[in-house]
Amino acid sequence: MNVMSQRHYRHIHVEPRETGFGAEITGIDLSVPMSAAARAEIMQAWAAHAVVWFPDQPLSLDALEAFTQSIGPFGVDPFIKSMEGRQHVLELRREPDETAANFGASWHSDWSFQETPPAATLLHASVVPPVGGDTLYADGVRAYDALSPVMKRLLDGLEAIHSASFAYGTKGFFAKEAESRTMQIIVSEEAEKTCAHPLVRTHPVTGRKALYVSPTYTVGGIVGMTGEESRALLGFLFAHMVKEAFVYRHKWRKDMLIMWDKRCTLHYADGGYDGHLRVMHRTTVAGEKPV
Ligand code: SIN
Repeated sequence: MNVMSQRHYRHIHVEPRETGFGAEITGIDLSVPMSAAARAEIMQAWAAHAVVWFPDQPLSLDALEAFTQSIGPFGVDPFIKSMEGRQHVLELRREPDETAANFGASWHSDWSFQETPPAATLLHASVVPPVGGDTLYADGVRAYDALSPVMKRLLDGLEAIHSASFAYGTKGFFAKEAESRTMQIIVSEEAEKTCAHPLVRTHPVTGRKALYVSPTYTVGGIVGMTGEESRALLGFLFAHMVKEAFVYRHKWRKDMLIMWDKRCTLHYADGGYDGHLRVMHRTTVAGEKPV
C-alpha cells in the first residue's frame, strides 16, 4: 500500500494507519462546499487509504447529500426503502428492543451484484451505542498481494457470479426472518438476477489489483468451474481476505463520517449493542463496470 505522508496535503490533515489501510482526515468542515483543491486532496487520500473517516462532522442530511454529490453522482440503492423525501439516503436504524440481526452483519461489498456497482459508500453516525456497533473493513489489495504468484496466475482472468438472492431473494435471509426490524427491506424476485465480475479487480484510479469476492454476494460460483471447485476456491478466498492482518476495526463516534472504496474492500457491521439505539445515514456514489 502506498502510504502518503502529510507533506502531500495542504488543505487537509491525513493520519494514516500504520498499514496504510485506513486514514483519519481532519482540518476540513464538510458541512460547507469545499474548494476544488481540498476535494482533490480528499480524493487522493481516499485512493491511497481506501477507508477514510472524518471525526466531528455534525452534518445535516442536506449536507450529507451535498458532500456525497461532490464526490460523484449517487448510486442506485435497491431492496431497502430509502428515507421519506430522500431517495438516496438510507437510514440504518436499530431500536434498543430490536432482536433481528443487525443490518450488514456479513462480509460484503455493497451491491456488487449490479452491472456497475457503487464506487463508494458514505456512512454518517447520528446515534452511536455506548458499546459495540463497530464496522470492520477488509483490505482486498493487501489480501491479493499476499497470494503466491501461482495463485495470482490462477485467479487473474477468472470471473465469479454475484447475486443478491441469498440476502434479498424471495427465499433469502430477509424473506425468512421471523423477527421484526425497523429498516424496511424489499424482498424481490429481482434479487435472483446474476452478474459476472472479475475475481481480481483493477482499481481505476490507483491501478492496484484487489480481490473482488464476498460470501454475501459471490454466490453463483466461478465461471467455467464445477460447483465443487468453485466452493473450494471461493471458500479459501473468503477466509483469506478477512484474515486479521487485512482487517481494520472502526470504532464510531457521534458525527463521524466514513467513506470507503467498494472496489477494493469488504465490510462487516459488528453487533454487540443490543438494548441500545444505533442510527446511521448512508449514501452511495456510482461506480464503473469492474475490470
Ligand atoms: C453496511 O453498510 O453494510 C452497514 C455498516 C454499519 O452499519 O456499520
